[in-house]
Amino acid sequence: MADSFPQNPFKPGAGRPPAHMGRRPEVERPLLEVLTGLRTGEADNQLVYLYGPRGNGKTVLLGWLREQANRQGGGSIAFVRLIPEDLESPEQLCRRVVGALRRTPGILDHLSVDLETGIPGLFKVKLGGRDDPILGLSDWLDRDRHPVLFAVDEAHEADPASLGRFLNAVQRAGEHRPVCAVLAGTPGLQDALSAGKASFWTRGRSLAVGLLSESEAWAVLARPFIDAGFGGDDDAGAELARAADDYPFFLQLYGAEAWDVVRTSGSRRLLTDHVPDVIRATSAVRRQYYAQRYDEFLRVGALPLAKDVASAFQRSAAPMTNAEINRLLARHAGNPAELRSLLNAGGYVWRDDDDRWTPGIPSLMDYVLEETAPEPDRREPAP
Ligand SMILES: Nc1ncnc2c1ncn2[C@@H]1O[C@H](COP(=O)(O)OP(=O)(O)OP(=O)(O)O)[C@@H](O)[C@H]1O
Ligand SMILES: [Mg+2]
Repeated sequence: MADSFPQNPFKPGAGRPPAHMGRRPEVERPLLEVLTGLRTGEADNQLVYLYGPRGNGKTVLLGWLREQANRQGGGSIAFVRLIPEDLESPEQLCRRVVGALRRTPGILDHLSVDLETGIPGLFKVKLGGRDDPILGLSDWLDRDRHPVLFAVDEAHEADPASLGRFLNAVQRAGEHRPVCAVLAGTPGLQDALSAGKASFWTRGRSLAVGLLSESEAWAVLARPFIDAGFGGDDDAGAELARAADDYPFFLQLYGAEAWDVVRTSGSRRLLTDHVPDVIRATSAVRRQYYAQRYDEFLRVGALPLAKDVASAFQRSAAPMTNAEINRLLARHAGNPAELRSLLNAGGYVWRDDDDRWTPGIPSLMDYVLEETAPEPDRREPAP
């Protein structure tokens, strides 16, 4: 008999739009304000930084922002999505920008350039004979009043010099037109920006992308079941959300497994009885995921530091202040600023908008403590 069970809607992975997106009003609202500012032309030059530990949903938020720009901008906002390599070469950057402009209805009417001539030539020849395509690009941005939103994902990977040059071009263009750059990256993004030359970046708006709230995490797990007509125990969703630490990647992982468990159980309902099976079935994937983070510390000889941080959080579940984290760093060999960057880079612990340090994935701390616990001596004493 054909399996009539609907396709699994959960999307564990990278950047894949979830069936139900857990909301973060504190991040979404300012992003929507950026779009309004671009549309009304009231936006000053705007820089926004979306930063947070891996797997929290920064790429998903950029996808959501693009949808909102298309919907609310009535097609008038050119949404230019970029990756760090695009910033390295001015030609590539221009190619990307023109590609995005081509897809934005109405905008080519305003482009008084020959798009077939090749991008560097296009900006050189048609826009004031400049040699640098970035300058040409800023010239064009200056002349055309169309709003442009640049979204750079994985921005922490960008070479600081290219990032600085790009931000300078955006800044120049912003003097004459509505333009905004949204940079998304791990908490290490701020270190990458500090290393660049564009000092005005500190005036950008930072938006921390942390774990979801308890109720949103529940909705991420439960909504797809409810929408498919397979309601269940509210407690089952809540228990799974708690076990997933309200962490978006684990929520998708558990959701996908729970869907399969419900399918094979024939119950057509997500029940609390299913929860242990889901947790058991996903434990290998979770441990692999933790192991990658663990190995990053192992490779650079920073496991004692990772362990010390984990023990501190085990003793007190509260976030740490800067002074507390600095005291902890002082117990370890090495430059404290570099050690702090190491912790912050991938979001093992990270500094949020309130200047508090919290674990990126709380359960990773348990894994580190478990793996670094002294082994009992396996050699049996001689009889
Ligand atoms: N708001 C959300 N609600 C539900 N699931 C989400 C949400 N945001 C992200 N996810 C899911 O979490 C996973 C990771 O998302 P995403 O790749 O966007 O994270 P990221 O922060 O960009 O990670 P990285 O730093 O590794 O690039 C994906 O499986 C995605 O479907
Ligand atoms: Mg991402």
